[in-house]
Amino acid sequence: MGTKHDVLTEDELATFKISPEIHQEIARFIDRTGTEPSREAINILDWGCGRGRSVAKLREEGFNAYGVDIDERTMRNGYSVLARRGLDPTSVLLNLDDTSRFPDGFFHCICSDQVLEHVRHLPAIFSEMWRLTAPGGVGIHHFPGSRNFREGHLCMPLIHWLPKNRLRRTAIAICLTAGAGPTHQWPETKGSGFWPTVDTYYRYLDEKTYYRDIDDICAVATQAGFDAGYKLLGGAFPATRNWLPAALRRNGFPGSSIFLVLIRAKIDGTPA
Ligand SMILES: C[S@@+](CC[C@H](N)C(=O)[O-])C[C@H]1O[C@@H](n2cnc3c(N)ncnc32)[C@H](O)[C@@H]1O
Repeated sequence: MGTKHDVLTEDELATFKISPEIHQEIARFIDRTGTEPSREAINILDWGCGRGRSVAKLREEGFNAYGVDIDERTMRNGYSVLARRGLDPTSVLLNLDDTSRFPDGFFHCICSDQVLEHVRHLPAIFSEMWRLTAPGGVGIHHFPGSRNFREGHLCMPLIHWLPKNRLRRTAIAICLTAGAGPTHQWPETKGSGFWPTVDTYYRYLDEKTYYRDIDDICAVATQAGFDAGYKLLGGAFPATRNWLPAALRRNGFPGSSIFLVLIRAKIDGTPA
């Protein structure tokens, strides 16, 4: 599988699958409408779309899908595949600053995959998502729990539990010495020595990750106007989960991801 640094190819897309939970929530949304809208009448936004893999797949399935991302360089790596599929890449993959181009309530579904743990200013993002969501529409967000045993980007245990200070930097150095580290070499660390590599990893976690308690995330979503609910997906020991302290359990210890569902109520207060 390619990374955000690689140009997206048709071969990679052929093996990429939209998560079944996203399809389920779209089907639930359609059920709630009590009508049978055509797929092209359903507007979907992939927030943090990266190279646009989900956008390409959802378009293939007939949905009117768009993507938005903070990193234009990554999006550019998806342009050629989208163009070959007859789409105008810059109209379907938009920079984060350009969401104002979409009118209020345009999207029936806003989804994100492995993105919310990277968002610095959550209240601003949830407010904009609320503005963009149609009354009765749904937000579907899949991301790692803040109490996962392993930090998924660096593949190191527990380092994201530590405060963003020298203690964490030391822990990264210890993990690296013990042989833990990302599965693929990062272009940013190519040719770097030990401490510059530690600093690159430390800076990445410091500047690009914001792990939060799921209760706090739901509170921000509720403040923005959504009805918020979530479930945990996967994880190594689901049978023993009930024995864990609540703060660990709800935040995905030891290895569950979180699937957050945000519904924008209709004007009369009903979900759809
Ligand atoms: C781990 S990648 C996931 C990409 C894509 N969802 C996928 O599965 O291929 C996280 C993406 O979120 C983007 N991102 C980070 N913060 C963001 C924000 N505040 N708004 C939109 N996108 C953001 C990053 O640029 C990156 O492309």
